[in-house]
Amino acid sequence: MASRVQNPIQNRLWLLSFSTSSTSSLCNSVSLKKTRFTNRSLFGKRMPWSSSRRNLYCTCSTSRGSTMDSNTSPSSGRQNAEPFVITTPLYYVNAPPHMGSAYTTVAADAIARFQRLLGNKVVFITGTDEHGEKIATAAAACGCSPAEHCNVVSQAYRTLWRDLGIAYDKFIRTTDHKHEAIVKEFYSKVLANGDIYRADYEGLYCVNCEEYKEEKELLDNNCCPIHLKPCVAKKEDNYFFALSKYEGFLGKMLSENPEFVQPSFRLNEVQSWITSGLRDFSISRASVDWGIEVPNDAKQTIYVWFDALVGYISALLNDGEQPNLQTAISSGWPTSLHLIGKDILRFHAVYWPAMLMSAGLQLPKMVFGHGFLTKDGNKMGKSLGNTLEPTDLVQRFGPDAVRYFFLKEVEFGSDGDYSESRFINTVNAHLANTIGNLLNRTLGLLKKNCRSTLAVDSAIAAEGNTFKDAVEMLVTKAKTHYETLALSSACEAVLEIGNAGNLYMNQQAPWSLFKQGGAASETAAKELVIVLEAMRIIAIVLSPVTPSLCLRIYNQLGYTEDQFDTITWSDAKWGGLKAGQVMAQPKPVFSRIENQIEDGNAGETVKAGSKDKENINQNKSAIEV
Ligand code: MSP
Repeated sequence: MASRVQNPIQNRLWLLSFSTSSTSSLCNSVSLKKTRFTNRSLFGKRMPWSSSRRNLYCTCSTSRGSTMDSNTSPSSGRQNAEPFVITTPLYYVNAPPHMGSAYTTVAADAIARFQRLLGNKVVFITGTDEHGEKIATAAAACGCSPAEHCNVVSQAYRTLWRDLGIAYDKFIRTTDHKHEAIVKEFYSKVLANGDIYRADYEGLYCVNCEEYKEEKELLDNNCCPIHLKPCVAKKEDNYFFALSKYEGFLGKMLSENPEFVQPSFRLNEVQSWITSGLRDFSISRASVDWGIEVPNDAKQTIYVWFDALVGYISALLNDGEQPNLQTAISSGWPTSLHLIGKDILRFHAVYWPAMLMSAGLQLPKMVFGHGFLTKDGNKMGKSLGNTLEPTDLVQRFGPDAVRYFFLKEVEFGSDGDYSESRFINTVNAHLANTIGNLLNRTLGLLKKNCRSTLAVDSAIAAEGNTFKDAVEMLVTKAKTHYETLALSSACEAVLEIGNAGNLYMNQQAPWSLFKQGGAASETAAKELVIVLEAMRIIAIVLSPVTPSLCLRIYNQLGYTEDQFDTITWSDAKWGGLKAGQVMAQPKPVFSRIENQIEDGNAGETVKAGSKDKENINQNKSAIEV
């Protein structure tokens, strides 16, 4: 059973500074101005907090200041040219990245790209969490120093992000000296607020979670339910953060701002942690050398979570700036969205807001906890040793296929299982066939019959056209889905444009109209413009998910990369393609992944062809029309 024995001297100090530490007294000192988050749109203009001031402030200490105000609303902030700040977790460097860790980053990248399309300034933060026992142990196991080990693994994350087309703005490493300075300042603020005390602690510790566990949470043999490994008994003299003091505040904040935790079905869990009572947690380790020293106590290092969470702030520092909280904060704090996996929700939705409150800083606007990628029903993870190699997937199938599959096929927020056959079937059907072949056969017809040149403006071609109406409706749908972080549904809406385009093409059959000649040929040329305009719109609306595929589509439509780089969501309005625009030589934009049914496993095991084979097949994949 975990028990905490407070150091008598420190305890007395703590009691002095903490004489108002009960939940009720904190609640008395915190004034919550009630504004509910009621709108469906998570980041749209219609959020009520964009039009009304929204303050949570503590009246007992000026240093606490405002923790949320109107400037922090995603929409109002951006109207004031404040950035949309999105974060991924800072990844542990105990092992190279796996697909589970890449998943959060791919999703964050899609959301960031969507926000940029809307014309918002975006700060997309990612990075690596490099301190703590498990990193030191991993380094020792490969016979190198923790610093060397961190350099190698942190670089592996950067390389993977490059290969996956992740356009982050800031990459923070918790071993960065600037970060260390900010953590120490943050710690000192919390200390000055009377929320740190010293005590002995005895309990069961999961090294992989880097967290003390309560016996009731554990499986047989004191195994951690996430990592399925036994927790170890630990007894330490530590510094504690007075989380319990913030119980009332957090409960109230959540009941008044339920959209703080997303998806909404995760809110109950967070609320139940709070109502069942919050225990102070230890924020230092006497037994761990690989970490940031506790200010004024060189024998202890700061607990990895207390260290890493502050990375979301230190990441905001620009090159050459003084590493202090004020400077970092002024570059974009608070974040609009912390994107995380569900296993680290407690740290982000309970510990972190309390820590920020204690330091007198504004709270993030939203925490979204997505589900797990599973393999054979088990969470995929480094500690479980059942990971899927993202580098391997990217090398074999390319970044668009990987990004598309996980964002389209896993409902964002829920768990999703990976299988290679499903992966191949999905990307072949959606990207190679529905989208790629539609573009390719339309361009083929245009080349054959119109010298690859558009005969008429797309706006004129589609006057009174119901297919155009359907496309416009689907674009609106996709936008709403992106705004509410329903990424799979956003992909689905784009796919529906592709399906409708194929249907339209087959119904209009321009190839037979061309054969008739005369007025029929003119109609056929007009139909091609309509389908190509739909393709142009697909290239914009799907670009947050598959940016390089969409660039290739744009190039095929006769645009340059620079033109693609400056598109905005408003360019998805029907009418962009104009008469006289010359299309590129038709070339398939997405290689079909060639399956090889292994002997004896027909219908079950599929194996992707090699990259070379894929390229050869790419040239064969255009449908002859
Ligand atoms: N270092 C902490 C985060 C500190 S943030 C200030 C950490 N790192 S982690 O590398 O273990 O995990 C990073 C993220 O990867 C978490 O959001 C976690 O949920 C996610 N995933 C790890 N395995 C996963 C799956 N199998 N599926 C989906 N995401 C998973 O926690």
